[in-house]
Amino acid sequence: MDAIRIYGGNCLDGQTTIQGSKNASLPILAATLLINGTCEIENCPNISDVYHMQRLLESLGCIVEREGTLVRVNTEGLSECDMPSDSVGVMRSSVMLVGALLARTGSVCMEYPGGCVIGARPIDLHMRFLRQMGVVIEENEAGLCAEVTRLKGATLKLPFVSVGATENLILAAVMADGVTVIEPAAREPEIQALCEFLQYAGAQIEGSGTDRLVIHGVERLAPVRYRVPSDRIVAGTYLSACMCTGGRIFLRGAPVDHMESVLSQAVMMGAAIEYEPDGILVTGKDHESIRHTVTTGCYPAFPTDMQSPFMVVMTVSEHGGCIEETVFENRFRIVPELCKMGADITVHGNVAHVGGNSRLHGAIVHAAELRGGAALVVAALAAEGTSIVTNRHYIDRGYEDIVLSLRELGADVELA
Ligand code: EPZ
Repeated sequence: MDAIRIYGGNCLDGQTTIQGSKNASLPILAATLLINGTCEIENCPNISDVYHMQRLLESLGCIVEREGTLVRVNTEGLSECDMPSDSVGVMRSSVMLVGALLARTGSVCMEYPGGCVIGARPIDLHMRFLRQMGVVIEENEAGLCAEVTRLKGATLKLPFVSVGATENLILAAVMADGVTVIEPAAREPEIQALCEFLQYAGAQIEGSGTDRLVIHGVERLAPVRYRVPSDRIVAGTYLSACMCTGGRIFLRGAPVDHMESVLSQAVMMGAAIEYEPDGILVTGKDHESIRHTVTTGCYPAFPTDMQSPFMVVMTVSEHGGCIEETVFENRFRIVPELCKMGADITVHGNVAHVGGNSRLHGAIVHAAELRGGAALVVAALAAEGTSIVTNRHYIDRGYEDIVLSLRELGADVELA
């Protein structure tokens, strides 16, 4: 079955190593297309989204080899610029290849990457600002074809922060003719990792980690070996599991520098965090939580990808709280599933009002997207009795082996 069975109610006690970042690996794999040669990406997580990105690169004529978490990409044989629909549909992040293919080959055709349940996730900003860089884009109901003779640097004033649009525009700008300014640029650690990878390859990028990027186009980039940072959302998910069940866990390699907002919220919700040289020691229920509102936003604000796991933390905390979602228009999908387990949550607009002290009980619940699915597993760990979380494939998109990791942390879980 495509599910996970969880025997809930036990305190977590154990340690696990945090995997490489999904949202850093995907744009960096796309960026290898900018480089004629072989790049080696270390700490690349073995998850289905990365697998689909690897297949997409192969479908374009690249040679992609994986040895454990090392992925080697040789783009010398790049021969296609039309992306196969089966990969685009599954691989929403295929849109990141647009900027890279335009920079490398000057043309790309693809179907529109689908939205998902958390929101429509349009790509209008990507299209609007690539056009400002000289790209001719023809769109129809099925998809788009884009062409450009030479990308030209431009001052790009985005109406709001977009991680994907920032990534695509960086990829288009690094070998464009002239200087490109992207403002406001996304500041996420994954953007900083992409910039660092490209800088190692010879790109000239100023302002990484700030909301203003200045990119001086260069003639070419050289092959790179780069290590992807650890995944801050995976670390935050297992932190949430410890907070919901109690106990003490060690998260080896947790990227604490990228987790400030999550860790400070965790302490407000009752956790104790001890910082070790190679990770964090978490005591899940150290003191009483404080009822307050958590608002998601662009980095360094509290990440939207942590919203669902934290909703579960609030549900089982003494005083509950409120969660305001400001990034995606439909990211409270797990509320009905959590209520089936005994949670007390009501949604008004983009705010979820979460009652505390809920005693969750086991149930059969259905994942509908990646982070909501992981949050249902967290809830099942805290629930009395047995739960089944179905549609595990959503969770496999971003978690290398959630059952193994949770077992290492002392949970009683199994594939179902
Ligand atoms: C990235 O998605 C991440 N995905 C998401 O993580 C993350 O939740 C999101 O950034 C916000 O941090 C990857 O990195 C692969 P956006 P992305 O462009 O780039 C709207 C996960 O669970 N928008 O910053 O798609 C958009 O609809 C995933 O790992 C437009 O309107 O996010 C959203 O409301 C989920 N037009 C808002 O902007 C556009 O052209 C922010 O989206 C682009 C975006």
